[in-house]
Amino acid sequence: MSGGKTVIAIDGPSGAGKSTIAKALSETLGIDYIDTGAMYRAIALQILRDGIDLADDDAISVMLEHVSVDQVSGRTLLNGEDISGKIRTPEVTAMASDSSALPKIREKLVALQRQMGERKSVVMDGRDIGSNVFKNADYKFFITASPEVRAKRRFDEFTEKGVATTFEEVLSDICERDYNDSHRATNPLVKTDDAIEIFTDDLGIPEVLETVLGKMTAL
Ligand code: DC
Repeated sequence: MSGGKTVIAIDGPSGAGKSTIAKALSETLGIDYIDTGAMYRAIALQILRDGIDLADDDAISVMLEHVSVDQVSGRTLLNGEDISGKIRTPEVTAMASDSSALPKIREKLVALQRQMGERKSVVMDGRDIGSNVFKNADYKFFITASPEVRAKRRFDEFTEKGVATTFEEVLSDICERDYNDSHRATNPLVKTDDAIEIFTDDLGIPEVLETVLGKMTAL
């Protein structure tokens, strides 16, 4: 990293470990972490709270005019309220998967994400950071793993938290989200040619972090 501002883009499918790596990287490098998935989740929570039908274009526009989403010190704020603990529910997860496909919602959040990365050095994780939000990011990583391994990791997390579900249910949810993320018309999940792909099926967090830092030094 030079003395200037640095943008590190981390993209990949659900459950690949992007946010864990992005967080660890931000701590190691002493720069901010922006979780763009949490921003889509915050908007999804607002849609659920307002009872908006996704087909109601006018209601979506009005909501977007009034809503504010921010990320401060790793917390996600919706209209100033810290909603970090309320956006990992199955309802919000399902709504975020559908609502994040709406171009109007993407337009608003992408503009916000660009502002965030223009002011300071950031590690930003999501689906379209290297392909759309910051096409000129200093470093681009595509972190992925097989659906089965991603589902196993998610399932273990749920079991630890006491959430009642089955491995098959988690796997089917992951596959559905992969499909939605990579088939939407606006800013789909895609690995750009200039992104470094890291396949994490057989790698632990420290090894992935080491690989990322090693690639950054080598570039
Ligand atoms: O990474 P996550 O599971 O918290 O993301 C929540 C949803 O938002 C997920 O369905 C994908 C979507 N998303 C997106 O479309 N673009 C991003 N940059 C980040 C997330």
